[in-house]
Amino acid sequence: MDKDTQEIYLCGILTISDKGSRGERQDTSGPQLQEQLRSAGSYTISKYAIVADDPIAITATLKNWCDNEGLDLILTTGGTGVSPSDQTPETTLPLLDKVIPGISEMMRMASFQKTANAILSRGVAGIRKSCLIINLPGSERAARENLETILPGLAHALYKIKGGSKDCGS
Ligand code: MTE
Repeated sequence: MDKDTQEIYLCGILTISDKGSRGERQDTSGPQLQEQLRSAGSYTISKYAIVADDPIAITATLKNWCDNEGLDLILTTGGTGVSPSDQTPETTLPLLDKVIPGISEMMRMASFQKTANAILSRGVAGIRKSCLIINLPGSERAARENLETILPGLAHALYKIKGGSKDCGS
């Protein structure tokens, strides 16, 4: 087995939705992402929350999970689009020490094979301290399809972010 896949990574799932936070819509995307990560085998879900499309609430949760809870990976779902309430990417970006454009680029590219609406997801991805934060779109289907795209490379990304020294490609 590849060394990367023997690690267990601590993960948080943050659903960002006004309606979800008020209990007016059941969150199916967050549980979907949890199931995908669990099935992949290298991930433990230690945090799950639903917050409104509110920059203060999003920032507080991301900072707490990265800086105090020591998570390795945070997946956000929702608020990446172009509606007036969507604020996830512009709230996430200033929190990142390093941006990883390839993650978001690949998700949009693969998603465009499925729906032309993929161009509307403005999600960003990058590293805060030693935590990888990735914005995914909000619907259950979009969240699943986007995570499917990047899942094969995720364990290696987390291994390298945590300082893994094995040569790439070896
Ligand atoms: N990507 C995939 N793979 N599948 C989808 O169904 N939906 C799109 C897009 N990306 C979609 C997708 C739609 S309709 C929107 S509006 C944007 O993601 C932004 O979604 P969000 O505002 O819920 O984050």
